[in-house]
Amino acid sequence: MWAKSHPSGQILAIERTSEKYAKFKRRLDHHPDVQDRVFAAHADAAWLVPWLSETIDHCFWLYPNPEPKRRNHRIAHSKLTSLVVEMIKPGGQLTIATNVESYAEELRVELPRRFNLELAFDEKWSLDRGARSHFEKKYLARGEPCFNLEFVKY
Ligand SMILES: C[S@@+](CC[C@H](N)C(=O)[O-])C[C@H]1O[C@@H](n2cnc3c(N)ncnc32)[C@H](O)[C@@H]1O
Repeated sequence: MWAKSHPSGQILAIERTSEKYAKFKRRLDHHPDVQDRVFAAHADAAWLVPWLSETIDHCFWLYPNPEPKRRNHRIAHSKLTSLVVEMIKPGGQLTIATNVESYAEELRVELPRRFNLELAFDEKWSLDRGARSHFEKKYLARGEPCFNLEFVKY
């Protein structure tokens, strides 16, 4: 979907599990038309992201595991978040989507407090805009709210 609406953009998907990476790679193999612009990395983001300092215009962090009992694994408190913010160019965007209202609220409050991030858009994603990921498709089909927060790095 993103590749079609951004015909000159390049996008990198990062997934650490073999199973989910293989699934995405299989889908990508069936779309030779976008293979010069859509890339898949089988890696832990914590290893890859530090190599990408200030090179990324827009990062999509869609439906992170909610981690209700592991505070330090949630985006607002994770060490990975500072690396992710560092990889985004100044003026670039960080979009985070979640179906968990309390998770969205924590992000609204904590990210602008802890990082050079300003909340620019705060909305619910709807089916008419299309699903951007497998989990988004599933949640929208169930009628669950999909909170979409877009931060700008300054
Ligand atoms: C709830 S799923 C959402 C997947 C996809 N973004 C979507 O919206 O359909 C979260 C995914 O993040 C992956 N993940 C979590 N931490 C990661 C990390 N540090 N590096 C790479 N992938 C990670 C998990 O393996 C899992 O596949």
